Amino acid sequence: SYRPTPEDRFSFGLWTVGWQGRDPFGDATRPALDPAESVRRLAELGAWGVTFHDDDLIPFGSPRTERERHVRRFRAALDETGMTVPMATTNLFTHPVFKDGAFTANDRDVRRYALRKVMRNIDLAAELGARTYVAWGGREGAESGAAKDVRCALDRLKEAFDLLGEYVTGQGYDLRFALEPKPNEPRGDILLPTVGHALAFIERLERPELFGVNPEVGHEQMAGLNFPHGIAQALWAGKLFHIDLNGQSGIKYDQDLRFGAGDLRAAFWLVDLLESAGYDGPRHFDFKPPRTEDFQGVWASAAGCMRNYLVLRERAAAFRADREVAEALRASRLDELARPTLEPGETAAGLLADRAAFEDFDPDAAAERGMAFEHLDQLAMDHLLGVR
Ligand code: GCO
Ligand code: MN
Ligand code: MN
Ligand code: MN
Repeated sequence: SYRPTPEDRFSFGLWTVGWQGRDPFGDATRPALDPAESVRRLAELGAWGVTFHDDDLIPFGSPRTERERHVRRFRAALDETGMTVPMATTNLFTHPVFKDGAFTANDRDVRRYALRKVMRNIDLAAELGARTYVAWGGREGAESGAAKDVRCALDRLKEAFDLLGEYVTGQGYDLRFALEPKPNEPRGDILLPTVGHALAFIERLERPELFGVNPEVGHEQMAGLNFPHGIAQALWAGKLFHIDLNGQSGIKYDQDLRFGAGDLRAAFWLVDLLESAGYDGPRHFDFKPPRTEDFQGVWASAAGCMRNYLVLRERAAAFRADREVAEALRASRLDELARPTLEPGETAAGLLADRAAFEDFDPDAAAERGMAFEHLDQLAMDHLLGVR
């Protein structure tokens, strides 16, 4: 039936359905959406959570009383619908003050202001029960070489995250950070461009345990990378704190299509991976309903994200349950890959003493074995296409 329920843990950013369709070439094609209305509509569609940038909820520069009114209205919609706020984040990219970045802006006063803006929204995130705080460094980057000393900028980025880690710890907040990589757009090049860069950066922080990643499907694909492979490595490192699901067709501008659009095969393997790995975090959609759509199209697009996830989940489960697939996996020796290369307790000396490993090993004979991957992949394709 593919009807989403709160148990599916689907969440949406306010900025996704609320996107008005403004792009570098054209004006808004839709009016602004009231956040409370978005909460209600998403709840009706079967979503479980809603996420926000500070400025999505409270327009930039709102005086204190206005701020409180916006939060109150939002809270009322949450209470009325039972929707949760699993994640929140900061807008450090729209206002012109962030034109050269936030935590890595060359101007020190801008960096201090950015930190304060984040700390203020972390307080609100904690108050609303969020467990993850996303950090997307959209403008932390450059268009030209000498403009940014990247090693200094990474020092400033570390300084910022170390301070934020200390802040949430000191406040006793149950909140972890998820860094979101993106290779470019809106900057010519952005720092921490891929999942791999972000994972390596995290290990340099003072409290690495508080930091993980929030990979977005389209962002890795903009860099020509295999998204499920990036997710697998994040899971392997225990760092998949959150995920931004959407669609992208190849190496081009950030399309933010609804989940399932774009590279459908990657979407299938992604759902297969998340479900078989037991990922229990939010299934968060970060997409933009195309500017061709009216509000009916916006809600159709949001519903499509969830429907495609549920369809792919069913297809992936059928693939894994198929006896012929189990045989094909064996024929492709996946069971052997799962087996350690060394015997328990075996050392380098043991390997050196094993004549079967080298002296008596016949590389030509081993090279003749086919891997049988094509049959295995066709079975997956048949499941994905719904013909098995
Ligand atoms: C993008 C980014 C953003 C961030 C969001 C959270 O598409 O460029 O994904 O949408 O996820 O701003 O900070
Ligand atoms: Mn994107
Ligand atoms: Mn995103
Ligand atoms: Mn986005």
